[in-house]
Amino acid sequence: MKTLLHVDNISAGYGALTILRDVSLVVKPGQIVCVLGSNGAGKSTLVRAITGLARTVKGDIHWEGNSILGLQPYEVAALGIALVPEDRLLFTSLSAHDNLMVGSAPLRSEVAIERNLDLVHSIFPRLSQRKEQLAGTLSGGEQQMLTIGRALMSSPKLLILDEPTIGIAPHLVHEIFEAIKQLCRDLDISVLIVEQHADQALALSEYAYVIDQGVVVMSGSSDQLARDPRVREAYLGID
Ligand SMILES: Nc1ncnc2c1ncn2[C@@H]1O[C@H](COP(=O)(O)OP(=O)(O)OP(=O)(O)O)[C@@H](O)[C@H]1O
Ligand SMILES: [Mg+2]
Repeated sequence: MKTLLHVDNISAGYGALTILRDVSLVVKPGQIVCVLGSNGAGKSTLVRAITGLARTVKGDIHWEGNSILGLQPYEVAALGIALVPEDRLLFTSLSAHDNLMVGSAPLRSEVAIERNLDLVHSIFPRLSQRKEQLAGTLSGGEQQMLTIGRALMSSPKLLILDEPTIGIAPHLVHEIFEAIKQLCRDLDISVLIVEQHADQALALSEYAYVIDQGVVVMSGSSDQLARDPRVREAYLGID
């Protein structure tokens, strides 16, 4: 299988501060890959390095075979990599619909925009009932669906989700995970997901990486990692 994203042995951080050391990661077309690790491990720094928001000082990052190192965040987005950041960054005083329209900005065709709106509403039926509601008055879970919907409006090939279920009610966590599965299965969108719900993330994904103190300490098929007692105890806090 061809590689979509290849993070090749990077060290990255902020200014003179190096957070990640020699990190490698691969996402193949149609895959859901998860990144696990405790608070401060460097998970968000990794997705920021991929999207041009953190500084990579060593190694390389390839997208569809070409280096994307040093590109500006908007240039990375234009290649088909959409990031849903940790802080949701919705326009709280705009309606749900208008937030989705902001996400469609890179698209030129009205037809494509309409098609993506239909798609987002079919994946998150809740949002179709709340088109005119101000984003700031949606529940936490609905806001998270809206941020994912907004990212989908740009027709990405890879959706990067940084802790999409943090602080969300359990039944909405389930809805969001189901939607992610559907994206991958029906629309051929690959997903890189950072999660703290380790068990659920391993069930959702095909391949997983565990980061600890800026280093990949374990990686493998998600099935394998989910069964490994060492992983469960040492890195996932599950017994
Ligand atoms: N903009 C920044 N400038 C300097 N240091 C930063 C910056 N952002 C993060 N860090 C530091 O980098 C380290 C890794 O942070 P990061 O946000 O990548 O962790 P994380 O794994 O995403 O944690 P969490 O699960 O809490 O979101 C932390 O020590 C953090 O303080
Ligand atoms: Mg983080």
